[in-house]
Amino acid sequence: MENNPKKAYEPHGLLQSHELYQYLLNTSVYPREPEILKELRDASAGHPLAFYGTAPDSGQLVSLLMKLVNAKKTIEVGVFTGYSLLLTALTLPDNGKVIGIDIDRKAYEIGLPSIKKARVEHKIEFIESPALPILDKLIENPLNEGSFDFAFVDADKSNSSNYHERLLKLVKVGGIILYDNTLWGGTVVLKEASEVYPELRRPDWSHTIEFNKAIAADPRVEISQIPLGDGMTICRRLY
Ligand SMILES: C[S@@+](CC[C@H](N)C(=O)[O-])C[C@H]1O[C@@H](n2cnc3c(N)ncnc32)[C@H](O)[C@@H]1O
Repeated sequence: MENNPKKAYEPHGLLQSHELYQYLLNTSVYPREPEILKELRDASAGHPLAFYGTAPDSGQLVSLLMKLVNAKKTIEVGVFTGYSLLLTALTLPDNGKVIGIDIDRKAYEIGLPSIKKARVEHKIEFIESPALPILDKLIENPLNEGSFDFAFVDADKSNSSNYHERLLKLVKVGGIILYDNTLWGGTVVLKEASEVYPELRRPDWSHTIEFNKAIAADPRVEISQIPLGDGMTICRRLY
């Protein structure tokens, strides 16, 4: 990595090669990806921040984990054009519900036609807002405490620890909180922010490292950090 600091940003996730990543996608992911999710992915491709979208391989894990905990009520922090939100809504039972929070509704509107076409809009409550005050508001209602089965966090990394504290109140014991981008393109092993490429990754680099340390030491959750997509950390609430 030190010899070629830009290597980690070639489009192969965190795997050894582009070919290996394509193998994973072509063998295990794309053949099972619902057509409507592919449609949303294609609709998002022209957005200048298209790389924000949850990687389809990571999305597959979101869906699997939701099913393992029989998720009916979930929260998503960071919606963008709605790839993971649509995936979540498709995975939920018909009476399930996902609250999706994002500061930017414009991006969500790119994915909205696909969400409507999939006939899952009734399971989605989209809230345009910074996430923290919404999570605090949810906590104010005692009925929400420990009532969520699953949460997916894919937003501003400087707030990851703040989201974690709120979500540990909202997600039930035995429920899952899943964090995206926890290996930050492989840059978490670097010593200085100045070594991090592309430069737009620099501001959240140290937040990611601090968050990883904090989660690893948090006795309230059991965890598994996996090199899928951009790195994901699965947390199961213990108490
Ligand atoms: C990586 S994208 C989310 C990708 C999404 N999960 C998907 O599948 O396409 C991160 C999103 O977090 C949102 N975001 C950034 N700061 C936020 C905040 N303080 N509160 C809520 N959303 C925020 C951004 O607007 C952006 O859409």
